[in-house]
Amino acid sequence: MTLTIEDMAIFCKKKGLVYPNSEIYGSFAGFFDYGPLGVELKNNIKNEFWKRFVNEREDVVGIDGTIITHPKVWKASGHVDSFTDYIYRCDKCKVVIKGDDDKGMKCPKCKEDMKNEGRFNLMFETNVGPIGKDVSYLRPETAQVIFTNYKLVQESARQKLPFGIAQTGKAFRNEISPRDFLFRSREFEQFEIEFFVHPKKVNDCSCIKEVENMKVNIISAENQSKGKEHIEMTIKQMIEKKIGSSWHAYWLAQFYKFFLDMGINASNLRLREHLKDELAHYASACFDIEYKFPFGWKEIHGNADRGQFDLKQHMEFSGSSLEYYDEESKEKVVPYVASEPSQGIDRAFLAFIFDAYNDDKKRGNIVLKLNNKLAPVKVGVFPLVNKLNDKARGVFDRLKKEFNCTYDKGGSVGRRYARADEIGIPYCVTIDFDSLDDKAVTIRDRDSTKQIRVKISDLVNVLGGLLKDKVKFEEVLKLSK
Ligand code: GAP
Repeated sequence: MTLTIEDMAIFCKKKGLVYPNSEIYGSFAGFFDYGPLGVELKNNIKNEFWKRFVNEREDVVGIDGTIITHPKVWKASGHVDSFTDYIYRCDKCKVVIKGDDDKGMKCPKCKEDMKNEGRFNLMFETNVGPIGKDVSYLRPETAQVIFTNYKLVQESARQKLPFGIAQTGKAFRNEISPRDFLFRSREFEQFEIEFFVHPKKVNDCSCIKEVENMKVNIISAENQSKGKEHIEMTIKQMIEKKIGSSWHAYWLAQFYKFFLDMGINASNLRLREHLKDELAHYASACFDIEYKFPFGWKEIHGNADRGQFDLKQHMEFSGSSLEYYDEESKEKVVPYVASEPSQGIDRAFLAFIFDAYNDDKKRGNIVLKLNNKLAPVKVGVFPLVNKLNDKARGVFDRLKKEFNCTYDKGGSVGRRYARADEIGIPYCVTIDFDSLDDKAVTIRDRDSTKQIRVKISDLVNVLGGLLKDKVKFEEVLKLSK
């Protein structure tokens, strides 16, 4: 039976991953709160993006800008005039939905023609200051604060083209019809990079070798218009066929690879090129990374070629120069955003839990097979019986300094393993009567349910190796025999 998005929302609420916001007041459409386990999983996802794409790279630096910025920013960026959806209403069914154009829509319920109510700007307005009431907006994308800070960052971080600026944080959109749980909400998080290159070097990606033989599922704009399905292609072929520039393809490959490395099933991922008529006002090309949800292939990552649009607009509206002096060509240029990886954190969260969710009939419980790096709790510590509490507490106190651990002494060990499986704990440590003599404990592996016996003095090292993927459980198992 397919797990629906409604089933997933119930599971997330029950397990303390995500709750509907203000539930005691009947909840508030489009807003969600992350619970004790959800905040850990979400932080782990954000940390992994930051680690890989900021800390581990010399050509990307991070910032943390404000949510409310000078209102002119949004005029310059085009959001005041163009960040709109059409509202369609069905008077009969009282359904209100968003449309991308004014070509008309049929009601999803009664299939009758819907009434076009005109355009609606998706930005949340807010008044700044007690008098005068300057109107500004909650940012609908984190990107603009990167553009407004572009020159300060480039100079203070002494970056030379090509380089990127990253930011992670909240974004807000007054979605007309929020739906599908976390998928389309009104407050969400993004991790975005603006990657600036010399405008004449959009096709000169110096690190393309790292990814050119990587295979991706891709559906080009051309194949979509012919009604074809996605096909498998290497990044090299994608560039040769001029489906994307080399820098654009490079960054798409890097984020695609991130999802694979974090355990997403390859058959559930694909790239989709945008059709010309769906491009955002700032984009000259755009691709999505899509995940195969039970409600269809859906965008979890957007990646546009924004060209020089934003910097040029900000130069014009602010009167400040955002040009870059290129030492090689001895000329001033306006940098070109060859790729803007725009990653929704909440949609990544959703894709990871859907992909990890296994209803294990043999075990009789759900097993959330999350990657060790993402798992909200890394180790469960159990005393076999309450008499062993003191010994087990000692082990827990040592481990909790290293890993996010949980201590569970309620019910049978089998029940405790099941509870651990359901929240994706990769390893459970059980302290039994033998532990008092041999000063060893068992580690149980979530995915295989196999167990190994390890000296308490070696526990931090062994668990550290397993959790950081330095060693596989099977290898430790072989060595322990
Ligand atoms: N700066 C470019 C930009 O914001 P986008 O395609 O509008 O591009 C990027 O958004 C990503 O942000 C999406 O791929 C998605 O993951 C996330 N996102 C956008 N709107 C969202 C919403 N209403 N709820 C949850 N996530 C959303």
